[in-house]
Amino acid sequence: MPDAKTPWGGRFTGTPGEFQQRFGASLGVDARLYAEDIAGSIAHARMLGTQGVISTEDASAIEAGLLGILADIKAGEFAFDYADEDIHMAVEGELTRRIGDAGKRLHTGRSRNDQVATDTRLHAKREALRLLSANAGVRATLVRLAGEHENVVMPGYTHLQKAQPVLFGHHMLAYSWMLTRDARRLQHAYEAADVLPLGSAALAGTTFPLDRRAVADELGFSAVSPNSLDAVSDRDFLADLTYACALGMVHLSRLAEELILWSTEEFGFITMDDAWSTGSSIMPQKKNPDFAELVRGKTGRVVGDLTALLVTLKSLPLAYNKDMQEDKEPAFDAIDTLADSLTAVEGMLSTMRVNAARMAEGARGGFMAATDLADYLAAHGVPFREAHEVVGKLVLACEREGRSLQELTHAELAAASPVFKEDALSSVDIANVVSRRVTEGGTSPARVAEQRAAAAAALAADELWMAENLGE
Ligand code: ARG
Repeated sequence: MPDAKTPWGGRFTGTPGEFQQRFGASLGVDARLYAEDIAGSIAHARMLGTQGVISTEDASAIEAGLLGILADIKAGEFAFDYADEDIHMAVEGELTRRIGDAGKRLHTGRSRNDQVATDTRLHAKREALRLLSANAGVRATLVRLAGEHENVVMPGYTHLQKAQPVLFGHHMLAYSWMLTRDARRLQHAYEAADVLPLGSAALAGTTFPLDRRAVADELGFSAVSPNSLDAVSDRDFLADLTYACALGMVHLSRLAEELILWSTEEFGFITMDDAWSTGSSIMPQKKNPDFAELVRGKTGRVVGDLTALLVTLKSLPLAYNKDMQEDKEPAFDAIDTLADSLTAVEGMLSTMRVNAARMAEGARGGFMAATDLADYLAAHGVPFREAHEVVGKLVLACEREGRSLQELTHAELAAASPVFKEDALSSVDIANVVSRRVTEGGTSPARVAEQRAAAAAALAADELWMAENLGE
């Protein structure tokens, strides 16, 4: 490794050795901020020129030099030198090599402390939008599935024991609402990041007449930070984004778990597409839902990312501390993992086969109309707790005889309770069990259709939000 390149040569007679360089560096992680770093520097240089802090010629030279570096990095023609500690020093060092003294004026009235906070906020905003777009893709698929399989009935579970039948669409939309809340959290994280720290300098502000509002406008920030100490040490926006990722992963892990269960022979509710399945190197018959398992598995790491970030920030005194360099690795990992997992889940959902017959078959078992029989009695004046007991005995008898509730005769029902009339039999019909659940948010076809429209409307509103913020 070459000698460390430090911008603090004056104060030092020695330089850090190879180990210290490697231990102290973040370039491997923060190189991904190059576009934000260059955008921030261009805005800063332009403002310095306008304010007369540097000459307009120098400002123009800086801008042209930075645009050249940006083009080279994008083209893959920029050789990162890992003797540079971070992306800020890599870009600034190269700028000075390219344009000479003007490059050395760029850092006037600025510190890497407000610079890295600015870059990270710009990046967090961009990534929140990327995640929102992937989130919208999965929600659109869930809403579409709910519409395509409108009348498919499946068993609903509590404790993973059959409970009451529900529409498959109702089950899909439950996930769309989880993801709708995830979108809210991503939007919140975007807004939390939408404040400009630049101009706070190292911690206390600067003696130069900076125009912070102009820089905020140019970079698309809605506000400037009100306290320079807080501005350089605040990573709440990153914690918000990482939390949005962690909970988003928790949601996907629940869906992944169901896809895994449903694709077992025992359930057979779905058939995963070959493109989203893997085989076994020894068992020729196997078809494994690896990608769903990976989504489930990666969730643990993302929850760990959130913990890592929070613990990094815990107890840090004001203002900037080098500990904060450790913020990016977990946050970026959480972002990338959620983005990939959303892609995987959308791929699995949009290609899987929905086995309506197996679901319907499952919905016939498990005495899932028992609540409806008890409701019948309660609706005819029997106190619900008594009704519960009467039906519980019927279930026990059926279970012993290997029969279903649907196989009971009117005479048998009437023997259990004289309140049961001929029409009681229709209350154990599974289609009726579903269609009679008409409470708002319930599983009746009419309510689910209404809910699907609401989910689609929420999605359209979020797409509009994204378009407005992308256009900034
Ligand atoms: N690489 C550093 C980070 O990511 C940049 C800020 C360094 N500031 C400093 N005073 N050493 O946090």
